[in-house]
Amino acid sequence: MKVLVVGTGYVGLVTGVCLASFGHDVVCVDQDQQKITMLNMGECPIYEDGLEPLLQEQLLEHRLWFDTKISDCADFDIALIAVGTPPRSDGSADLTSVFEVVTELGNKLKQGALIGTKSTVPVGTAHSIETYLETMGRRDIRVVSIPEFLREGSALSDTLQPSRLIFGVPDDESLRVLKQLHSPLDVPIVACNRSTAEMIKYASNAFLATKISFINEIANICERVGADVQLVSQGMGLDPRIGSSFLRAGLGYGGSCFPKDTRALVNIAGDVAYDFKLLKAVVEVNQRQRTEPIERLRQWFGDLNNLRVTLLGVAFKPGTNDIRESPALEIGERLRDHGAQVQFYDPVVTRFWLQKQESVRVMDDPYVALQNSDAAIVVTEWPEIVELDWIRVGTIMRGRFVFDGRNVLDPVALERAGFVLENFGFHPAPSLAATSR
Ligand code: UDX
Repeated sequence: MKVLVVGTGYVGLVTGVCLASFGHDVVCVDQDQQKITMLNMGECPIYEDGLEPLLQEQLLEHRLWFDTKISDCADFDIALIAVGTPPRSDGSADLTSVFEVVTELGNKLKQGALIGTKSTVPVGTAHSIETYLETMGRRDIRVVSIPEFLREGSALSDTLQPSRLIFGVPDDESLRVLKQLHSPLDVPIVACNRSTAEMIKYASNAFLATKISFINEIANICERVGADVQLVSQGMGLDPRIGSSFLRAGLGYGGSCFPKDTRALVNIAGDVAYDFKLLKAVVEVNQRQRTEPIERLRQWFGDLNNLRVTLLGVAFKPGTNDIRESPALEIGERLRDHGAQVQFYDPVVTRFWLQKQESVRVMDDPYVALQNSDAAIVVTEWPEIVELDWIRVGTIMRGRFVFDGRNVLDPVALERAGFVLENFGFHPAPSLAATSR
């Protein structure tokens, strides 16, 4: 099949490369000239395991092309929209880019082609796109919703071996085309109407976010009653009705999806006069988790003015260079508001981060970043951070306070190195040589 993918962000790029690997002819379009030049040279602008080699292979096989404009549309059987839907100030999704693309496609696509939304869009968007196309006189184009569930860091395997495919379709013929597009994948398919498909995406993300905020609240209670949240998670997760995933307590969720999509779903509910209380609380709990390390530092040190704090990890989670909605950004800013001197370590983010905020110091060597620090906060559970040599860190840090925001450090190793370790709801080992500043 001939496929057009508009937008080469995470979703668009991974989708385009994977569809080419299924044997389709794929053209990916993005306005960003620099990115397109890079991609045509086989260079991947995002850090994602296995993506660059597969991209290069597809370019060599002449199944994949990149362009800055939707030029020759005569051939495409389906156009997938994977452009950004950034949140507006009220949390609702801004669909300006989506409708710009639809206008262009409405003018250019061949008779009977399909338009599919891959971006996470408010429930009802596919229907609105259809109505809009009708005003352009394009009743022949069918609109489908194919939500994407890929995770950053495992985007390729999530797309090549997905848990399920959700096809929101207006008729059987569209369903047939979508099945053909994904024919190499032998996974369960849920065929439904388009609003249902759009809702499945939001409900899935909201549910996972709920699991995270739930375990974070349990962690906060564990802390106060002397229970160990790690073992509570383990004990709960062994019940197959609960499942063990997304029960890691810590600083909460970040990234490009959960924060945006949870707020958007609260708005979608609000638009139909429904008060989604549970999800509002999920968002609030997530926000509160981020303030916890600062509270702990204040309890330990009192005044944070001129305190030297190293934040270990900048990416919103390991395995990606994405810093969108990363707790590190917010914690760093709050610490600076309290007069602290903040520096960061991250194994991959450095270059990307510096382009955005040149005043911030990010180092790619944790031991350099920790030099003379009074305190350290683990924000991202990169292996490089989990495996730090704390005896060595003890010789270079000025203070001995560590807050483990992801519950990944070994309390025994920290204790042995003379650190005071605090975390979310699993018991800090009694310190051997606790020293405050
Ligand atoms: C998520 C969804 O998993 C994916 O299906 C959707 O398409 C996009 O959003 P992603 O944002 O890449 O993917 O990351 P994910 O691995 O799901 O983690 C999201 C956030 O939750 C991260 O900040 C992570 O640190 C946090 N998290 C995850 C926890 O705090 N605890 C957990 O137990 C699991």
